[in-house]
Amino acid sequence: MPESRLTDRFGRTVNYVRLSVTDRCDFRCVYCMAEDMTFLPRQQVLTLEEIARVARTFTELGTEKIRLTGGEPLVRKDILELVKEIGSFGLRDFAMTTNGSQLPTMADDLRRAGMHRLNISLDSLDADKFRRITRTGNLSQVLDGIDAAREAGFRGIKLNTVVLKGRNDEEVPELVDFARHKGVDITFIEEMPLGQITEHDRGEAFCSSDEVRDMIRQHHDLVPATEDSGGPARYYRMPGSKTRVGFISPHSHNFCSTCNRVRVTVEGRLLLCLGNEHSVDLRRVLRGNPVSDDKLQQTIIDAMDLKPERHHFDLNGDVQILRFMNMTGG
Ligand code: 5AD
Ligand code: SF4
Repeated sequence: MPESRLTDRFGRTVNYVRLSVTDRCDFRCVYCMAEDMTFLPRQQVLTLEEIARVARTFTELGTEKIRLTGGEPLVRKDILELVKEIGSFGLRDFAMTTNGSQLPTMADDLRRAGMHRLNISLDSLDADKFRRITRTGNLSQVLDGIDAAREAGFRGIKLNTVVLKGRNDEEVPELVDFARHKGVDITFIEEMPLGQITEHDRGEAFCSSDEVRDMIRQHHDLVPATEDSGGPARYYRMPGSKTRVGFISPHSHNFCSTCNRVRVTVEGRLLLCLGNEHSVDLRRVLRGNPVSDDKLQQTIIDAMDLKPERHHFDLNGDVQILRFMNMTGG
């Protein structure tokens, strides 16, 4: 694998790419989508072949880690074909973020297609609360999906929980015990101000990672993990358990200085930062150069100059980023 050829103006090396493969989802999580969403017409969405070209080009530029995101990646038709293709590139790490609903039938095929690791969203263990947060989700289906993934033998499984005051914050200790029981990791995430939502006031629902950590510490010792996760999460271990507990704290702990990632939206927009609008249109380059990827490669290299130094999320102000997470890839 070559050293990454992607470096930005602030000396950061980009070796991690998150590719959104669809803006669609069978859930409507309150922090991610409006209840009534209009999805993109098909011509605006990258084809699976185009996504594979983007993935291959990044890999040739030294990318070591690719994550497929959505929306919900597993609702995209023929997604396993793309997974097989990218799975053949020999990446150090190939992962997917999923809501888990399709895993009961797809976990095994995904693993066989070459997927290494899964992040599965799980915000509640109470069926009613789960339904209220996801609006359409069925908890027992997701729990079956988690078990199917455990049986399929992935290198790692991590649960993702967005903590919201008054909705699921009191479930934090129970979720940690669930992760311990299942032998998987769990990460608690502070909600980010992406997209205009009406369901709750983000300032009021905000629950800081420090508060979440204090809740867990009433039940378990948390020892800072020494290894570098290579991402924004800070990890802890609990004595006597393999489960790691992570915290992603875009508000309370800025992690921009070590950012190693970029994102590609389902429309082929290369986003240099989750919290800024700086982007480059790769779809135009893909469709204008159907045979060679030379132009695509140069466009990606040049785009690194646009990567902003940091994000500025603000709980009290208006939403600064109008795109929803389903456009960006969670
Ligand atoms: N803030 C934080 N995380 C979010 N996700 C989606 N929307 C938001 C948001 N506004 C994350 C959740 C979910 C994943 C798909 O994306 O972690 O599990
Ligand atoms: Fe779907 Fe994930 Fe967004 Fe929920 S957070 S609506 S599961 S994409």
